[in-house]
Amino acid sequence: MSLLLTQLTAWRDLRRAPDWLGRSVGLVPTMGALHAGHASLLARARAENDRVVLTVFVNPTQFNDPGDLARYPRTLEADLGLARPFVDAVLAPEPAALYPDGYRYRVTEQAHSAVLEGAHRPGHFDGVLTVVLKLFNLVQPQRAYFGEKDWQQLQLIRGMVAALLLPVDVVACPTVRDFDGLALSSRNRRLSPPARAHAAVFPQVLRAAATPAQAVAMLREKNFDVDYVEDRDGVRLGAVRMEGVRLIDNVRL
Ligand code: PAF
Repeated sequence: MSLLLTQLTAWRDLRRAPDWLGRSVGLVPTMGALHAGHASLLARARAENDRVVLTVFVNPTQFNDPGDLARYPRTLEADLGLARPFVDAVLAPEPAALYPDGYRYRVTEQAHSAVLEGAHRPGHFDGVLTVVLKLFNLVQPQRAYFGEKDWQQLQLIRGMVAALLLPVDVVACPTVRDFDGLALSSRNRRLSPPARAHAAVFPQVLRAAATPAQAVAMLREKNFDVDYVEDRDGVRLGAVRMEGVRLIDNVRL
């Protein structure tokens, strides 16, 4: 069997195969451009499940900026290489297969999706929740693995699972950081070397500032375009832009 499946019919045949039935399945949903953060999700899924499925799908409905969608890195060959030791299947469907309705049907959360990231990326979380529900329906996992870097996404997915009574355990995995403390992100590779070096100041300021307002002032002083810094539920969350690349992060208070 080839690891990579692009057709939903082929995936459904595999999911129904005798050696998948009755086995625990762990899902790691991604948009590709995999890095060590994704590898940590895959390793955890491998340790906790009989079968592990990686999905690679650059989900168009969660991009409010068409330029960001066009520039999103697509590195399927390298992704397969990174994933191979951990997974039993990689599902990488075409957008038309996941959106046969043209996105007429969608999941909307009415309160928490409008703040923080949602305030700066209208419709973003509708797109995320809708595609995650579709992936849960397709893969039928017992467990699904998400990184804590996307803290708001994680809370909203947990909320959707509870609200829609989905039989999936959402497993939160710690943020993986580079040698200088910058959270790993597929977007980091779009930064020039000087901007990438400077980006490490972002998490340092989130940790060091006494208040969100002080963090905003310190980041602006250091030439970041700041979308927000806010404290919620014992977590300080922030989003900044450098060279047109948006970086998000959070630290525990
Ligand atoms: O975190 C991501 O990579 C995406 O938002 C997700 C969960 C794979 C949905 O497209």
